Amino acid sequence: MMKNDKWHARALAAGVAVLLLLGYDSDQPMAHKEPHTADQLKAFEEVFMEQVKVGDQLFHGDPGAQQRLNVKLSNTGVACAMCHPYASDTHPHEFPKFQEQMNEFATLRDMINWCIEKPNEGEKIDPNGPAMKALEAYIYYSNRNSKLDPGRH
Ligand code: HEC
Repeated sequence: MMKNDKWHARALAAGVAVLLLLGYDSDQPMAHKEPHTADQLKAFEEVFMEQVKVGDQLFHGDPGAQQRLNVKLSNTGVACAMCHPYASDTHPHEFPKFQEQMNEFATLRDMINWCIEKPNEGEKIDPNGPAMKALEAYIYYSNRNSKLDPGRH
C-alpha cells in the first residue's frame, strides 16, 4: 500500500469512529446509547451485589446457599475460601489461558469446575447456571482492581 493510501484509510477509520461516538443513527444496536438514570444504576448495582453475596456464601461452603442452588461444591469438607482466602490466587483477570492442570485452553468457569472436581472431589456445576454466575461475580469482585491480562501465567 502507498503511504497516501494508508493515510486515507486512517482518515476514513477516524471519521467512522467519530460518527459512532456521536451516536450515528443506524439500525445496528449500539452499546451505551442512552445514559442510565441514577435509579437504574442503583438497581443494576443491587442485582450485582446480591450475586456477589451468594457467590461469597458458596465460596465459603455455606450449606444453605448450596442447597438452594442444588450444588455440592466439595466432598472433602474444604471450601474454596480455605485454599483461596478472599479469592486469592484465582486470577480471574488472566483468563482465558492455557491451563497446565487441564492441558487445555481454559476459561475461568472451566477452572472453577476443575477445582470443584479435583481438590474438592465435588460434582461439576452447570457452566451457565446460577451457582457458576454467582461464584464468578464473587471472584471478579474480589479481584476488581486487577489489570486485565489474558493469557498470562
Ligand atoms: C484444596 C485446595 C483448593 C480448594 C479447596 C480449591 N482450590 Fe482452586 N486451586 C487450587 C490449586 C492447587 C490450584 C492451581 C493453582 C495454579 O493454577 O497454579 C487452584 C486454582 C484455581 C483457579 C485458577 C487459578 C489460575 O490462575 O489458574 C480458580 C479460578 C480456582 N482455583 C477456583 C476455586 C474455586 C471456585 C474453588 C471452590 C469451588 C476452589 N478453587 C477450591 C486449590 C484449591
